[in-house]
Amino acid sequence: MTSPTEIRPKKLFIKTYGCQMNVYDSDRMADALAPRGYEPTQLIDDADLVLLNTCHIREKASEKVFSELGRLAEMRKDGKNFMVGVAGCVAQAEGEEIARRAKGRVDLVFGPQSYHRLPDLIARANAGEIVVETDFPAEDKFEHLPAAAKAVTLTRGLTAFLTVQEGCDKFCSFCVVPYTRGAETSRPVEQILAEARNLVEAGVRELTLLGQNVNAYHGVDARGRSVGLGELCARLAELDGLARIRYTTSHPSDMTDELIAAHRTNPKLMPYLHLPVQSGSDTILKAMNRRHSRADYLRIIERIKSARDDMALSGDFIVGFPGETDADFDATLSIVREVGYASAYTFKYSMRPGTPGFSMPDQVPEAVKTQRLAALNDLITAGMRDFGKSVVGRTLDVLIEKKGRMPGQIGGRSPYLQAVHMAGPERLIGTVQPVTIIAAGNNSIEGKIVTRPEPKTASVIESQAVA
Ligand code: 5AD
Ligand code: SF4
Repeated sequence: MTSPTEIRPKKLFIKTYGCQMNVYDSDRMADALAPRGYEPTQLIDDADLVLLNTCHIREKASEKVFSELGRLAEMRKDGKNFMVGVAGCVAQAEGEEIARRAKGRVDLVFGPQSYHRLPDLIARANAGEIVVETDFPAEDKFEHLPAAAKAVTLTRGLTAFLTVQEGCDKFCSFCVVPYTRGAETSRPVEQILAEARNLVEAGVRELTLLGQNVNAYHGVDARGRSVGLGELCARLAELDGLARIRYTTSHPSDMTDELIAAHRTNPKLMPYLHLPVQSGSDTILKAMNRRHSRADYLRIIERIKSARDDMALSGDFIVGFPGETDADFDATLSIVREVGYASAYTFKYSMRPGTPGFSMPDQVPEAVKTQRLAALNDLITAGMRDFGKSVVGRTLDVLIEKKGRMPGQIGGRSPYLQAVHMAGPERLIGTVQPVTIIAAGNNSIEGKIVTRPEPKTASVIESQAVA
């Protein structure tokens, strides 16, 4: 039986750090708590429960958590009466340490595999226990996580994340993910399709499939067959209301022929690929245990471009990995020039305890890392600007996602994930419109909706609009 205190509406504030997988996880934690009467709030002052969904990928990310816990403790001293929980990868990696270091400031600490148990963990914390839950439970958390209500899904927008794969078996020597998120696992096809159907029925028009190593996806279908990411995208493309599919993040070695071919054959699969290379130097790639050379990576890019010549590429780069010389760094600059990225993310190498990189000799001085990062960023920014300019004059399909910043303006994304704004009525939100790009700035591009001569076509498009 449910006691009256359990159904009193309570307010949940989640602060999300790190990657898109954490954004997805935060929503699923909110979904897990919704049946227990927790409503999301954007105002920490109103919260009954504050959850920090943390990231462990770089040093600064975990340090931020401890300073946030300090700030929350001050708020509690000043009379705020919320419970504090730490979730995510820092919780997974340092559960006991957090409970010890943040004694009195934290009530529960739990890893990403325990989100379905959240209501029970909160009940235990309410009973006075300092809960630390970092095991990898035997049961499938996705089977136990409730779906979001349709109205809630729509408040999250027309584009949604959907985790299809978790964990990583690659063990790049700089990376904590194989330790924090564990071994690779793939969700079964039917489970993913059911979640996708729910999202699409609620009005979602674009799905981004997520996984730490998403293109290693190999889930079982209803017949017990192992299915790769290309086939999964084909199954998802059968969902009528779904307009677009994307996926991230991929490892070069898992770009299979099947997945590359899907970019030629599946019109819903967008021509944008985030394919991190990390470094352009073979010596550094080897030390990073990336399992591919510079030439391997470039060959994969060639294959992808021959399947779809307008593919926009994105990447991740680390500067200052142990042993990186000026010549190694120049090789990174040259691969950036050679590939011509539409966008990229750059990081200074950060020593992570427990990873092989931590104890490698020849750690690069901070000042050198700073200088290299600035040079790489300059090159990448220039490339992004060139890519923006390259679409000026072209007509691209834009998924209209929201109102623009100015009155009478609407905004959306091109197939290449560029933010596009244009004049247009709000009723087009949720539709895909042909838009001629007229100008490209640093962060977004400006377009003009192509007006179609036949009114019949226009009404067909309007009928696709999401209410
Ligand atoms: N230091 C710096 N960057 C890192 N990344 C992962 N681990 C580290 C680290 N120890 C970067 C990689 C990865 C992205 C998600 O974060 O580029 O692709
Ligand atoms: Fe980390 Fe990605 Fe390497 Fe896996 S493939 S260890 S997630 S950088």
